[in-house]
Amino acid sequence: MMAQYLNILYLFAAILFILGIKGLTRIKTAGRGNLLSAMGMLVAVIATLLKMQLGDEALGILAGQIGWSYIIAGVVVGGLIGAILAKTIKMTAMPQFVALFNGFGGGASVMVALSYSVAKILSGTPIGSFDMLTVILSLIIGSVTFTGSLVAFGKLQGFISGKPILFPGNKLLNLALALAVIAGSSYVLLGIVIPAKLVLYLIGITVVTLLMGILLVTPIGGADMPVVISLLNSYSGLAASATGFVLKNDLLIISGALVGASGLILTRIMCKAMNRSLANVLFGGFGADDFAVSGEKGKQEYTNVKEASPEEAALTLEGANSVIIIPGYGLAVAQAQFAAQELAEALEKRGSKVSFAIHPVAGRMPGHMNVLLAEAKVPYEKLYELDTINPEFKTTDVVIIAGANDVVNPAAAKEKGSPIYGMPILNAYEAKTVFVIKRSLSPGFAGIKNALFEYDNTQLIYGDGKKVLQQLINELKEL
Ligand code: TAP
Repeated sequence: MMAQYLNILYLFAAILFILGIKGLTRIKTAGRGNLLSAMGMLVAVIATLLKMQLGDEALGILAGQIGWSYIIAGVVVGGLIGAILAKTIKMTAMPQFVALFNGFGGGASVMVALSYSVAKILSGTPIGSFDMLTVILSLIIGSVTFTGSLVAFGKLQGFISGKPILFPGNKLLNLALALAVIAGSSYVLLGIVIPAKLVLYLIGITVVTLLMGILLVTPIGGADMPVVISLLNSYSGLAASATGFVLKNDLLIISGALVGASGLILTRIMCKAMNRSLANVLFGGFGADDFAVSGEKGKQEYTNVKEASPEEAALTLEGANSVIIIPGYGLAVAQAQFAAQELAEALEKRGSKVSFAIHPVAGRMPGHMNVLLAEAKVPYEKLYELDTINPEFKTTDVVIIAGANDVVNPAAAKEKGSPIYGMPILNAYEAKTVFVIKRSLSPGFAGIKNALFEYDNTQLIYGDGKKVLQQLINELKEL
């Protein structure tokens, strides 16, 4: 009877997860969506602990090895670390933060599947072939997710080179390792392995797939890490789902499937926004070639860049009927979202129509710019996506590009050899006047020259995004 009530609690948690994800699809409802999902997780944890107390077989096998004190300590310590990190982490470090989360998810799936199967094997209880299949899937997907995510974290945090690390025979080695995993798994599943060696085989499969996770992500450039993180997010969901089958836990199966599917959808959206195939992201070694110009070399590429002072820009802005502000990664670095909103208000007071143009991959993670601008209380109706805003540039007086680079680079539309060729961009170059706010002529994430900086209608205002925007506001006030 009690078990039935617990199933209702699980169903309730699953509904909260689905409503949570639905809420996350819109900025206005995102906060509530997050809260609903967190509540769902709380219900799930409580229901699972009650299930364990009632004597659930699979959970009992795990709990038998640890006991309540460890569980409570885990919840307290983990919850505390999570809360502190969530409060202190900078928005610009969010992608690597998510990478770590994914890694922990994958790692947890591996530990659960391994401890469950090893405990059963050591106690002499046979594991059915379907159960063993789910254990192996959990080990494989979880291990690749764990080490792959750690490498992605290292690349974004600067602990390891963001450049693709390629060596001769890289793909061949991966193939050999994949074949070894398939052979080992088949041996286990077909019952060829004697029980005394089963644990050794499972550990072997785990170690080899841990290595594969490293080798699969190191050849991918830092610029593609957000896509990889999104894909690994999907993998962490699949690993959790497989673990759900191991533990015969319906809620873990459902929530894992939700993460798996949403991660895949997000990966597809990001690939589409960059006009790249997933295969190209994973195996293309983007960023390893000499096309990329960065640092000093990048600066030498430009011969005809015009500069404007904030005072000159304010004079042009004063007479503008329409202004579009394009935020990019630099806006996040400068924490200039509040200044951007203040500038928009100042311009509107003077009679200009102001819009914000959001590119789907502006910044370093999906929705990066939306989150920043929402924080600064930019009205939702003023945010325009690529398709809706692009036809407007031709009739716009002034475009202010605040810390964006790749997402306004005309090379994506015009230079066939460019690594970003085909990526849809915001057509800022079509406006009457374009002001680009950035600190130098350094390139953006893709590491390539931006021809827009040399266009006749473009002027650069050098400086930190927040400082320059504030100077513009002050200059406007004085006019
Ligand atoms: P980027 O092309 O990376 O350019 C950012 C610019 O901001 C740089 O040129 C930099 O120039 C400037 N900047 C940095 N700090 C600044 C500061 N304090 N004040 C003012 N400017 C500053 O940014 P984007 O246009 O947003 O494009 C995003 C890139 O990330 C794309 O290549 C995209 O493909 C990639 N990416 C994004 C995602 C997602 S989901 N968002 C996923 C995968 C890849 P200075 O150093 O000269 O100031």
